[in-house]
Amino acid sequence: MTNISQFAAGNLPRLWNYALAGFTIAGIRIRRERSGAPGNLGTTVNRQMIKRLLPAVTLIASLFFAHAAAADGDIATGKVLAYTCLGCHGIEGYRNAYPSFRVPRLGGQHEEYLVAALQAYRSNKRPHLTMQAHGSSLSDQDIDDLAAFFQGKQAVLDSVTDDSIGGLESARACLACHGEGGDAVIPKPATLSGQQQSYLAHALKQYRDGRRSGTVMSAFAATLSDEDIASLAAFYSKQAGLRTPAITE
Ligand code: HEC
Ligand code: HEC
Repeated sequence: MTNISQFAAGNLPRLWNYALAGFTIAGIRIRRERSGAPGNLGTTVNRQMIKRLLPAVTLIASLFFAHAAAADGDIATGKVLAYTCLGCHGIEGYRNAYPSFRVPRLGGQHEEYLVAALQAYRSNKRPHLTMQAHGSSLSDQDIDDLAAFFQGKQAVLDSVTDDSIGGLESARACLACHGEGGDAVIPKPATLSGQQQSYLAHALKQYRDGRRSGTVMSAFAATLSDEDIASLAAFYSKQAGLRTPAITE
């Protein structure tokens, strides 16, 4: 990215979505006129508001400059390495014992996120004893190969839009990243569509409680109530998307 204004000009709709997400975090509502005219700030912007908005704007700006790791894995090697993983991730509906939730679906999840997740377990930045133990024995190349295998030939991306969320207002702040075009965001957000409902709820609570941290998600989850989490998890899990890879895949 050499020229920021050039970049901005080519990405205006997306930038507007980020701004909307930022306003939502800051608790500022944007009302639309009945006529359908472009959004209007329904409140006067004062200094206090700008103060509340700053962290959100900084957060969003930082997304443009973060560096994405390029994965370079081999699907066939990954398949061999994945043998033990499939003992849990290859069994549809397999449950984590405590707390109880279904193990996440990995089939079709994109490589970049899989690599980031495995690295986070390996360095114990992300909690979960079993996954930390599995991660600790993996080399960078193993991680890339496993990610290539689980993604498969084509990654599944979220294609949710403003229209498809229906009346689910809490999902509006998610669309810029977990919606159509969200794959252009850096770092590339995890695909949520088709993910296990109980796992999505578990993940959102972990971000909200600070048990899973260091990512942009902590700020977004902080604003969610238990009801929001339940309905968002139900909504995304019902979208066509991720799958449980078959042991023989
Ligand atoms: C004993 C069951 C079990 C085994 C075996 C296992 N996992 Fe997991 N895995 C889990 C559970 C449970 C989670 C969710 C943990 C959490 O809450 O962070 C998880 C999470 C993950 C995630 C994060 C998914 C996401 O959406 O964030 C990845 C990636 C992953 N596992 C890959 C692997 C790989 C690769 C292997 C083999 C080397 C493996 N797992 C072996 C149970 C298992
Ligand atoms: C600015 C971009 C952005 C926005 C907006 C955003 N997310 Fe995320 N989300 C991410 C990124 C990046 C990750 C991967 C973070 C990580 O590695 O932990 C993620 C991860 C997640 C995960 C964990 C997925 C997994 O497999 O473990 C869930 C669940 C999630 N987001 C839900 C939401 C919901 C619900 C909203 C709206 C309330 C939302 N996100 C808004 C960028 C975003």
